Amino acid sequence: MKGNRAVAYMGPGKVEVQDIGYPDLVLRDGPGVNPLNVGRKCHHGVILKVVTTNICGSDQHMVRGRTTAPSGLILGHEITGEVIEVGRDVEFIKKGDLVSVPFNIACGRCRSCKERDTHICENVNPDRPGSAYGYVDMGGWVGGQSEYVMVPYADFQLLKFPDKDQAMEKIKDLTMLSDIFPTGYHGAVSAGVKPGSTVYIAGAGPVGLAAAHSAQLLGAAVVIVGDLNSERLAQARSFGCETVNLREHPNLGEQIEQILGTPEVDCAVDCVGFEASAHGTNAVEAPATVLNSIMTVTRAGGRLGIPGLYVTGDPGAIDEDAQIGTLKVRLGLGWAKAHTFVTGQTPVMKYHRELMTAILSGKAQIAKAVNATVISLDEAPRGYMEFDQGAARKYVIDPHGLVK
Ligand SMILES: NC(=O)c1ccc[n+]([C@@H]2O[C@H](COP(=O)([O-])OP(=O)(O)OC[C@H]3O[C@@H](n4cnc5c(N)ncnc54)[C@H](O)[C@@H]3O)[C@@H](O)[C@H]2O)c1
Ligand SMILES: [Zn+2]
Ligand SMILES: [Zn+2]
Repeated sequence: MKGNRAVAYMGPGKVEVQDIGYPDLVLRDGPGVNPLNVGRKCHHGVILKVVTTNICGSDQHMVRGRTTAPSGLILGHEITGEVIEVGRDVEFIKKGDLVSVPFNIACGRCRSCKERDTHICENVNPDRPGSAYGYVDMGGWVGGQSEYVMVPYADFQLLKFPDKDQAMEKIKDLTMLSDIFPTGYHGAVSAGVKPGSTVYIAGAGPVGLAAAHSAQLLGAAVVIVGDLNSERLAQARSFGCETVNLREHPNLGEQIEQILGTPEVDCAVDCVGFEASAHGTNAVEAPATVLNSIMTVTRAGGRLGIPGLYVTGDPGAIDEDAQIGTLKVRLGLGWAKAHTFVTGQTPVMKYHRELMTAILSGKAQIAKAVNATVISLDEAPRGYMEFDQGAARKYVIDPHGLVK
């Protein structure tokens, strides 16, 4: 019997590679598995041999000890793989298919799924709508930073690449379809980016860079990326963005005025979330910073895309309010400017097929934009550490050494 090596969260700042046993088409008990999901049969699922699986800023919230993730949780929600076993109720996905897995888990049968809101599927997480692999409070579906993983509801969820050889040529781009490319794109779409728009993107991590590239694809006239990390800002400039270093220049509006001649943009996207830092040298964590700054710099009537993650429980928060997700958001400002806010997980399935075609046709260069960097499964702990230190890279784990 095959084993299955996987990346486990062991406690704040600590991940390790463990053998967790080969998966089957059942959700078995384990760290973080919701009791109501234990024993759930998945004849509608498949087993994938994982081809690539990426480390995400969302994983880092857990690894930094900023969530209630239990020790032993198997990480990984950004999964691309080859189907090697098919459940008896799977009709159309076949053994040998190379597929992208949306990070949201969705049944395809509930009201949300029928309305294409797969990010709030009602049937996969007993606690609340919405789920993901390898994530705290998401039902306990086992993560895919591993050699093999089980994916339920395969016919509904999986995006099959049309040609395997062609896909392997572009796998460093296609691996971004499981999360950050749709997420960045969703951020830009929900901010209303269109040809000629001026856009501010908060955060130059992989999601921010994906949002910036997406804004370019949507025809934005100027894309400005802000962060406190100069290496990541240089990465944003490498594909044509303007940048603002918020450590050196805490007044974002002034910097935008220098670039555009006006202190406001048409559209803004929060690609930071609740671990946001204040601006300036020696800045400390201030979770509402980005929400308040994007309201300040977005024109009246503008739209704010907010893929950056906000939580309902944060054991490492700076104060008691923030521990339950209550932040000092200046809603009066957003109200006065009649802003529209779009929050939540990304409904990946709304976008992944078109973005796949944009990659395969050569229109989108997402791997280059986010500096995709391939590592082995054994290098995952180092990847987590470097990513946490702010490396300007998107780490792509290649568990079987299949990526050229
Ligand atoms: N909505 C979704 O479905 C979804 C999907 C993927 C990721 N996310 C979330 O998106 C966020 C970004 O993900 P990532 O992988 O790029 O994470 P990341 O941690 O690599 O990047 C965040 C960046 O924000 C910067 N930053 C901190 N404070 C800032 C401020 N005030 N202004 C500007 N930049 C600031 C940091 O220096 C860092 O470079 C995370 O919160 C992640 O959980 C959400
Ligand atoms: Zn992710
Ligand atoms: Zn559903």
